[in-house]
Amino acid sequence: MLTILAVVGTGWKQTSDWSSSVQKSLFTGYGRGVGEAGCCSPAGMSSGRLHVKTKRVCARKRSRHVLKTHLTPVRKQGRGAGDGSPPCPPCRRSSSMAEGRVVEYCSDSEDLFGDYDSILEDSSILAKLEDAEQHEILQSENLQSFRTLQPSKDLTSQSPEDRPTDSMFDELEDNAFEELPPSQLQFQEQIQDQAKRSRLQARDKISTPSHSVSEIIEGAEETNAEDRSKRQRRSVADQLKKTMLGNAATPVGVSRAAALKEAVVSEEISVAMQAMEAICAETTDLGPFFGLPSKVKELMHKLRGIQSLYDWQKTCLNLDCVQQRKNLIYSLPTSGGKTLVAEILILRELLCRRKDCLFILPYISLVQEKVRGLASFGLELDFMVEEYAGSKGKFPPVKRRNKRSLYIATIEKAHSLVNSLIETSRLENLGLVVVDELHMLGDGSRGAVIEMTLAKVQYMSKATQIIGMSATLGNIKDLRTFLGAENYTNDFRPVQLKEYVKLNDTIYEVDPKEENCFRFSRMLNFKYSSSMQKIDPDHIIALVTEVIPMHSCLVFCPTKKNCENVAGMICKYLKEDFLQHRETEKATLLQELKESGNGSMCPVLRRTVPYGVAYHHSGLTSEERKLVEEAYSRGVLCLLTCTSTLAAGINLPARRVILRSPYMATDFLKRSQYKQMVGRAGRAGIDAIGESILILQEKDRNMAKDLVCAPMENCYSKLMQEDGKGILSLILSLIGLNITSSLQQMEEFLRGTLLFVQQQQLCVDRSLWDTMQQCVDMLKEKDLIAVTGTDSVSPTLQITRLGRATYKGSVDLTYCDLVYKDLSKGLEGLLLNSYLQLVYLVTPYDLIPQCNPDWMVYFRQFTLLSASEQKMSAAVGVPESFVARKAAGQTVKKDMDLVVVKRMFLALVLFSLLKETNVWSVAERFQLSRGLVQTLLSSASAFCSCVLHFTEELEEFWPYKALLMELTRRLSYCVKAELIPLMEVAGVLEFRAKQLYNAGYKTLTHLANADPAVLCRTIENLFKKQAHLMVASAKMLLNEKAAALQEEVEELLTLPADLPPQL
Ligand SMILES: Nc1ncnc2c1ncn2[C@@H]1O[C@H](COP(=O)(O)OP(=O)(O)OP(=O)(O)O)[C@@H](O)[C@H]1O
Ligand SMILES: [Mg+2]
Repeated sequence: MLTILAVVGTGWKQTSDWSSSVQKSLFTGYGRGVGEAGCCSPAGMSSGRLHVKTKRVCARKRSRHVLKTHLTPVRKQGRGAGDGSPPCPPCRRSSSMAEGRVVEYCSDSEDLFGDYDSILEDSSILAKLEDAEQHEILQSENLQSFRTLQPSKDLTSQSPEDRPTDSMFDELEDNAFEELPPSQLQFQEQIQDQAKRSRLQARDKISTPSHSVSEIIEGAEETNAEDRSKRQRRSVADQLKKTMLGNAATPVGVSRAAALKEAVVSEEISVAMQAMEAICAETTDLGPFFGLPSKVKELMHKLRGIQSLYDWQKTCLNLDCVQQRKNLIYSLPTSGGKTLVAEILILRELLCRRKDCLFILPYISLVQEKVRGLASFGLELDFMVEEYAGSKGKFPPVKRRNKRSLYIATIEKAHSLVNSLIETSRLENLGLVVVDELHMLGDGSRGAVIEMTLAKVQYMSKATQIIGMSATLGNIKDLRTFLGAENYTNDFRPVQLKEYVKLNDTIYEVDPKEENCFRFSRMLNFKYSSSMQKIDPDHIIALVTEVIPMHSCLVFCPTKKNCENVAGMICKYLKEDFLQHRETEKATLLQELKESGNGSMCPVLRRTVPYGVAYHHSGLTSEERKLVEEAYSRGVLCLLTCTSTLAAGINLPARRVILRSPYMATDFLKRSQYKQMVGRAGRAGIDAIGESILILQEKDRNMAKDLVCAPMENCYSKLMQEDGKGILSLILSLIGLNITSSLQQMEEFLRGTLLFVQQQQLCVDRSLWDTMQQCVDMLKEKDLIAVTGTDSVSPTLQITRLGRATYKGSVDLTYCDLVYKDLSKGLEGLLLNSYLQLVYLVTPYDLIPQCNPDWMVYFRQFTLLSASEQKMSAAVGVPESFVARKAAGQTVKKDMDLVVVKRMFLALVLFSLLKETNVWSVAERFQLSRGLVQTLLSSASAFCSCVLHFTEELEEFWPYKALLMELTRRLSYCVKAELIPLMEVAGVLEFRAKQLYNAGYKTLTHLANADPAVLCRTIENLFKKQAHLMVASAKMLLNEKAAALQEEVEELLTLPADLPPQL
């Protein structure tokens, strides 16, 4: 295999320390770069040259090249069978949805290929590549000797001092092997023995350490002599194109130690897989660590600090049903360590069964955290981690022949992903779907989306395993029936959580065994002045000062405003001593908050942060949220007042959680909400103990008993909610995806839903089948589906063009016709010298009710518009005269459509944001809260991508396609263009991107090749762990982009199987 570094534009350059003479001779005469020193550092890269390094080419790929020609631009047909794709599902798409078409149904992250497009478009490079092909023939002798080098010997002979230390892996302590129990050591020895043998056998086949499971397996399949001669005939142009693409995928500074470790794990998996094949095709026990190689155990230790599994985790992983890959629901208290079990099962599926996995989490922030956390595993174990959240994610996902993918997705994105896999007949590549926080099934429209997703997976791919987990499941039985799943439950919580309630001055411990549920614990010790008593009648200050500043405390409040007030009130009475605790770090935080707001800063935070206190709710900008969360995790802030934004799934330190009242806004808390909130206290590995205190008023005492002691609430299907919105859109997509085309098939599908399981409780007025029939009629009325065929008993149902656009764009059925009408009207005089009209068309309808424009502000902004923009505004129904009259306080007699007027106001906000990219100043100018502006921006970017997919399905909207692609990108990031590549990395926001950019890390490649230790030194307030996670995610993203290009190149150059005879 080749490892070559080429400097495009200035010439070729080799950096490998072995076989240099061979490579030199291979590339002599191809530019000025020959012989230059390696330039892996960001500084080297910023010289404007593009570095490209060949990727090791696996044996199967090499052997396939005899079938290829780079002169064959035709897309290969019927690839599925070759790459292990499943046979067609029961119902195929119609011909109008042929594969070529589907490729166009890409996501809003159409920028997946980023800067790398330029590589393929550089014809001078391609010319060089052709020339190089001639040279290859001349150099084939040299090449042979080059290929027979023994890198493993090379690597093992290296002294530890020689090993580069740039790998993240090297920095972490290295003793996991030593801890292995005797049985595992034995296994280890066996593996090494077998690995030695297989190395000897493979000596002629591989020249660098095996890289991945696939490469090893494929290597083993290769037959030596024949393939070598085939390889010689292979186009160098092809190799080098791959080389260039592969370079991005391979970290420039990979240490030899890391490469050696990689080789060991690959061999270990390979040996294990061979063993598995020999024993039984169904066995999944491939290694000493719950069926995984001991490398995984080592990584768990090094990257997570987890030395051994909890007993329940071991039991659960060893359950028969888990071994047999049956569907499973497991439920344990918060912080019980549920995620780890799911992650081990995911790794098993990726590494051993070589199937893709989908991990569904409820919030974008949780998805990003997981992507960051698992990127290092992906890099070490050679699988892709792909983010599907916000505007990120490609539909259908990039096909990968040699690597498996772990898609980490929000609920909505997971649904679109599954739809796109069904549509392209690739669902069976998905081996496992994991749903975290499974109780979300009962949570409004998002619950309906989870249900649709799981029902489709179950119906279309029987082999796909489904695993759900939750801390707060009431009616597991219904869910078990729905998923045909086994169940595992345990009460384990590694850190004990003590629950208390406070009534007047008394603290009671929650004890369900007591008749009253509450047992006296202590009297609250406080000395309040009368003014203080008036301001803080609930004694929150007394409660928090028992733990802060040495420990952390979360105070859940019922409203956003209350969060800010409580934070302010607490600080008013805190002693001056609090100011000195971690003073410098708090000053830095204040500075960062200010910079993130381009000089503006929230007055409440300005006052509270010096005391180590802040608030956290959806009114903060994403930058502020991130800064506040990070400072709180590090203990710089010791107290957060928050709404339920911090209630689910997160791992933040909290010795004590206080619930300010048992209400969320005006609604009494649900038991599951209460459990999630108190569950933030005492997280394993962060706190040694945890306690929660619910502040009660006498009037709520009885209701509170149920809240703290009753069994968990049941979780019900939400398909029928909001006038059956869920079931309507389910039926539409079933017809659109060709899953069902008759009422009988639909009935059969619906039998697999949670709604069917719970029909007796939920379909009271009419049966599920009547409801289904009614939905079909409604969809027909809305012209979203049509009846074809003559069979009146069982007519064939087909989706209409509008129906297809609606489900493809995930457009709400209530306003799909409005979207169509607005877009059609827009085409009559599309304004192309400004973004205003496009922005108006993607301003989300559902935010309009929240908008109450200040007419003076409206008018002022209106007058700033150009003549053509004003004309366009008048054309949609907002003339200047109307806004002027309203601003002057005059009544307007003419009937105006206020929805349009308000939508235009929101469009003006977005329009300003695009120009200025500053949430703070725009919020101020429009007299809106910055939180609302931030929400508007993120919903507009999501809706823009929906409208884009909608227009893609309707020929008449062709002009919108290109325009909306760019607009989605701009709305998604809304920062200066140069920062976008950095912000594509999970969790990197504008502020951090600016810091990185200013420090010289200008592109994704710079960041992916950065040394985390150097980053920590150069970037203010960036900590070691964050730096490691950030670099790992950047590497993963770079790999992803490069691999996507590589796949495309291969696809383009593959000879079509059905090419007519050329003789
Ligand atoms: N075997 C283990 N040893 C040590 N720490 C562990 C172990 N398993 C999990 N943890 C740690 O415990 C913490 C909580 O785990 P996790 O987030 O999986 O809990 P959870 O059950 O999903 O909680 P929640 O319901 O609140 O989401 C994490 O920091 C995790 O790394
Ligand atoms: Mg969890």
